[in-house]
Amino acid sequence: EQFRGNRVGTIRLDPDGWFLTSPFTNFANKYFEFKFKPTDIVIVTYPKCGTTWTQEIVWTMVYNPNLDHPRAVLPVNARCPFMELDFLRQSLPKPFLKPGKFLYDTFSHMHPNLNPDDGIFLQMAEHAEDPRIIKSHLPFSLLSPSLLQNSKVIYVVRDPKDVAVSYCHHSRLFKVQDFTGTNSDFVDHFINDTLMYSPFWKHVQEAWDLRNQSNVHFIFYEDMKADPKTEILLLQKFLNLNLNESQIDNIIHYTSFDVMKKREEKNLMRSEEEMAEISNVEVEKKDGGFFRKGISGDYKNKLSSEDIEKLSKWTKENTQEMESDFKYKI
Ligand code: A3P
Repeated sequence: EQFRGNRVGTIRLDPDGWFLTSPFTNFANKYFEFKFKPTDIVIVTYPKCGTTWTQEIVWTMVYNPNLDHPRAVLPVNARCPFMELDFLRQSLPKPFLKPGKFLYDTFSHMHPNLNPDDGIFLQMAEHAEDPRIIKSHLPFSLLSPSLLQNSKVIYVVRDPKDVAVSYCHHSRLFKVQDFTGTNSDFVDHFINDTLMYSPFWKHVQEAWDLRNQSNVHFIFYEDMKADPKTEILLLQKFLNLNLNESQIDNIIHYTSFDVMKKREEKNLMRSEEEMAEISNVEVEKKDGGFFRKGISGDYKNKLSSEDIEKLSKWTKENTQEMESDFKYKI
């Protein structure tokens, strides 16, 4: 088995074929029935497309335009809850119950009345202050229909070749997945839709089809990277905010890769022992941590020409019906 972590218990959900771990079924109804509010801002992505970056940009724009908010020191997932972390946590082999504990401890400190036995991360999302900024990797079809009726939805996508590299690193780094195969093996898993939250193309297509709906905002990672100002101005319009130019310039710097990496790694600082429980220290030393590289096109340095070719063919097959403004259409 190339995944020694929470692949234990992975299932394909009928009839749509989403690839998730079986504890998802303990929460599926709760997720589907979650009551999104008109004031909510919800960031939806396939993993590794720039979720954390977008969370930080949006939270900062909404809550911290002057970069002086006392809670800015909390990890981004404590400020913008990851609503389905409960099922992921239930998927862990027994020794790895820690991930998320830190976030929960931080949050339950602010909300002492949470019920520890009943979907704690879902409660974090529920009780977040308004406007709630919520993160999910679930595809729209598994999320509550109230989301698309009510809330503001931001969907971020990234070049699948870079997603493959980033997701592969993530899967090696974190013991919850503990991937031991090669890059090439990982590309095969991606193409065969045997990764958590796959199929990738179905995930993206569901969002692309909704991109012209007025409460949906679609972002390409590469656009944010190439011209963050334009993207932040578009976000500002979408979110009806009114930041001035110097606030926006400061936020661009504050959320740039190097600055954010330094800050967030410090925010998440835990004992070496605890880190070793969550992540593979050797991988981290060799290839970096969660904030790995933060660039566009790193696949050219990391994947073989055969794997790039495979991914291109796969992209071509899956973008046939998409309009030419879909960035990765071949
Ligand atoms: P790499 O592995 O290519 O470095 P997600 O948050 O969806 O899991 O995505 C993680 C990817 O976004 C990682 O990509 C990570 O380094 C990158 N990332 C995180 N913060 C970023 C930032 N401020 N600017 C650019 N990329 C960022």
